[in-house]
Amino acid sequence: MIRWDEPPEGPVLVLLDQTRLPAEEVELVCTDAPALVEAIRTLAVRGAPLLGIAGAYGVALAAVRGFDVDEAAAALAGARPTAVNLAVGVRRAQAAYRAALVGGGDQEQAAAAALAAARALHREDAEASARMAGHGLALLDELLPGGGHRILTHCNTGALVSGGEGTAFAVALAAHRTGKLRRLWVDETRPLLQGARLTAYEAARNEMAYTLLTDNAAGSLFAAGEVDAVLIGADRIAADGSVANKVGSYPLAVLARYHHVPFIVVAPLTTVDPDTPDGASIEVEQRAGHEVTEVTAPQVPVAGVEAGGGMPVAPLGTQAYNPAFDVTPPELVTAIVTEEGVVSPVTAEALAELCDRSRQV
Ligand code: MRU
Repeated sequence: MIRWDEPPEGPVLVLLDQTRLPAEEVELVCTDAPALVEAIRTLAVRGAPLLGIAGAYGVALAAVRGFDVDEAAAALAGARPTAVNLAVGVRRAQAAYRAALVGGGDQEQAAAAALAAARALHREDAEASARMAGHGLALLDELLPGGGHRILTHCNTGALVSGGEGTAFAVALAAHRTGKLRRLWVDETRPLLQGARLTAYEAARNEMAYTLLTDNAAGSLFAAGEVDAVLIGADRIAADGSVANKVGSYPLAVLARYHHVPFIVVAPLTTVDPDTPDGASIEVEQRAGHEVTEVTAPQVPVAGVEAGGGMPVAPLGTQAYNPAFDVTPPELVTAIVTEEGVVSPVTAEALAELCDRSRQV
């Protein structure tokens, strides 16, 4: 859901504004890196793989338009801290730009190299998505022979956040297409409602059987024996296999363990960060309290409330705890599905081996 375009006025990056979904499909046109940084901060563009792709294109945009590339790269990489894909994508385009200059290329050639790097990342992410779907479906077949899967997911992990069909959602979609998905349980994902607004939108477009639930209804759903597997994405996977993902993922992992249900993380290798040793080392983004004290999704039409303003749901001045992510320890993760294969059980050694193998290919 991202596109490089070259109208007569000059190159631009076009994004589907995710803050406006599902009410309307509006494109956001970024002409420079600061506009993209703002789009990232406001979650107009979001989700780990897409953040990486956007970051890479953002560097290319700065280069092609003759802005300071290093300054743009630093601003983009720092726009949100948890999803490692963002910094990885930025660094990749920046490295291509620098390498072209060092190799004797001029500014135009270096900018073209940055753009080529962004396009390559975009393409690779689409390929990774298809491969994760294949591996994930095979894993479901193994863990849950017989089909009829009732899968619970959290946040949004579909085509909206990917060059392809996404991560966890792509696996659910593959199950749907092969007639094996009985129901997709969609956590609404407070406070910004990525599940209600975006995953439900994607599930409906794909004609999947889905049901929306409030995040805190998951416990009774497990207790009723209605969940066969949990499938989620990831924003960063530490070297020890700890998984940072949208806040609310960790409680699902605890529930899944208690109820003997597989808890499966689906993420491309660009989400694995060997430089982050463990879960405690992952920086978790803390977001503004008003996202909790108000119903803040500005795209949800609320009579009498100006677009962009939230409807207060707590007394004025209430303090809020609003981490955007939480961290699930590896021992609660049944498997990590990547484009290069599945890690299960999740150990630092198995994860490192998979990463090494992929580098050798
Ligand atoms: O704050 P967001 O909406 O960017 O958070 C996104 C998530 O937590 C996703 O689950 C994660 O990026 C995986 S996307 C394939």
